[in-house]
Amino acid sequence: MKQQDFLDQVRQVGRQAALAAGALLKLNYEKPHELTMKSAIDPVTESDFAAQKTIINLIRQTFPDHGILAEEKMETEVGEGAKGRDSASQEATPTYRWVIDPLDGTVNFAHGFPMFCVSIGFEAAGVMEYGVVYEPLRDELFEAMRGGGAWLNRSKRLKVSGVDRLNEALVATGFPYDIRERLPETLERMGKVLASSQGLRRAGSAALDLAYVAAGRMDAFFEENLKPWDTAAGILLVMEAGGAVSTFTGEPYTIFSDNIASSNGVLHRDIVALLSRKRIIRSP
Ligand code: IPD
Ligand code: CA
Repeated sequence: MKQQDFLDQVRQVGRQAALAAGALLKLNYEKPHELTMKSAIDPVTESDFAAQKTIINLIRQTFPDHGILAEEKMETEVGEGAKGRDSASQEATPTYRWVIDPLDGTVNFAHGFPMFCVSIGFEAAGVMEYGVVYEPLRDELFEAMRGGGAWLNRSKRLKVSGVDRLNEALVATGFPYDIRERLPETLERMGKVLASSQGLRRAGSAALDLAYVAAGRMDAFFEENLKPWDTAAGILLVMEAGGAVSTFTGEPYTIFSDNIASSNGVLHRDIVALLSRKRIIRSP
């Protein structure tokens, strides 16, 4: 099969899986949730599992031997399932791998706060080739193919914002589930961004934060200790929409990095300078 035909099939399957899982989440959103705690403040609902099952079943129908790196641990899962930063070494990366967050924004979902999505990334030889983020309540499908741009609902080309001063920038952030162990540094970073930007938002879904940077709705995003499935699709969206992604210190970002700084590109030097504790040097 030609590479282009293969990637078209990847897109078709990824899109179908994101839409099916999103429909399931939308249906379950209004119902009472069965909640289990993975740690003190990290919940998982029966919908996380059901959505993940839907996605993996659909992928397996077409690509039975592709690797899967998904958030939730499922007893019946036959793929790599639920391997995180510690267990999924990059040496063990299969040639083709799907990186899945069946429900990004679980806390929001569980509380009835309408900000959550499905996020699926597809990698070939460790390179992110396709990403899809689907927000079912607004029916917004954000998609990117490497080299093919980023798109909203298949028809609107996404482009990052043109905001070129931090003072005018709307910045997104999020907090990891071990936030209680890293409060001082987190608050210090937030303080700096609050003092330099137009506003700071914590909406509760890293995948949507990145999609919003790609769409020009937010101008930058930063967070630490995210997992591969939180950012896999979103980083491709941002890059294909003309933005930038790195670590807090400006190093190249991988889905296994400890932290992420993302922006419309124009602001990247300034945002990295803030997050990496360097002084901001403005060009005249
Ligand atoms: C979480 C969300 C949230 C971010 C957390 C993530 P989950 O993912 O993306 O915005 O701040 O760090 O863990 O648990 O809802 O899939
Ligand atoms: Ca999740």
